[in-house]
Amino acid sequence: MKDCLKLIEILEVSTTAPSGYNLQPWQVVVVIDKEKKKKLKEICYNQQKVEDASANVVIIANTRAGFDNVDRVLDSWIELGYIQASAKEQLKETIHIGWSDPQRAKKKAVRDAALFAMNLMITARAYGLETHPMEGYNEVKLREFLELKEHQEPIMIIAIGYKDPNKTLLPRAYRFKFEEFGKVV
Ligand SMILES: Cc1cc2nc3c(=O)[nH]c(=O)nc-3n(C[C@H](O)[C@H](O)[C@H](O)COP(=O)(O)O)c2cc1C
Repeated sequence: MKDCLKLIEILEVSTTAPSGYNLQPWQVVVVIDKEKKKKLKEICYNQQKVEDASANVVIIANTRAGFDNVDRVLDSWIELGYIQASAKEQLKETIHIGWSDPQRAKKKAVRDAALFAMNLMITARAYGLETHPMEGYNEVKLREFLELKEHQEPIMIIAIGYKDPNKTLLPRAYRFKFEEFGKVV
């Protein structure tokens, strides 16, 4: 329970991630139950870390966030004095337009949810935990397992736990040099 509260704190700190219009289009399902982890491991093509980890956080992009979250966000802006109450409806309309096209909405939701996921990994490390991101899962089975709706796009699973002190990590994997991935213009 104590660990669960710590994880919830980590997840809440991770919401400091930026997002377009602060719409925070991410959702999570935290899998900690022993039997459910076993089931999730199968869905993840038997990746053992899923079962070994204390928890697995399924990161979901909400492709409807421009509609679902807009009122909460704009009301907070009014409360904080960022905008006048009279400006809300116009701004809401602008946000709705941006989220009306399914392809654009998906791009927005996935982009912001990925920033949240990275923030979660950094925050977990600051709390003394290790993480491992995974895309190796059967999406159809994952959707069924978590009863996800169509607008809920699972983008990755992050296994979280304490490092086994008896295990030695591999050396840091090769990274490209700047000239291989960037240019200055
Ligand atoms: C979105 C994403 C999905 C990944 N999926 C898996 C996975 O399913 N299984 C796995 O063993 N590693 C997975 N990885 C880990 C990468 O293989 C790893 O980050 C990469 O090889 C570089 O290694 P490093 O992060 O240890 O430096 C994933 C990483 C990311 C960012």
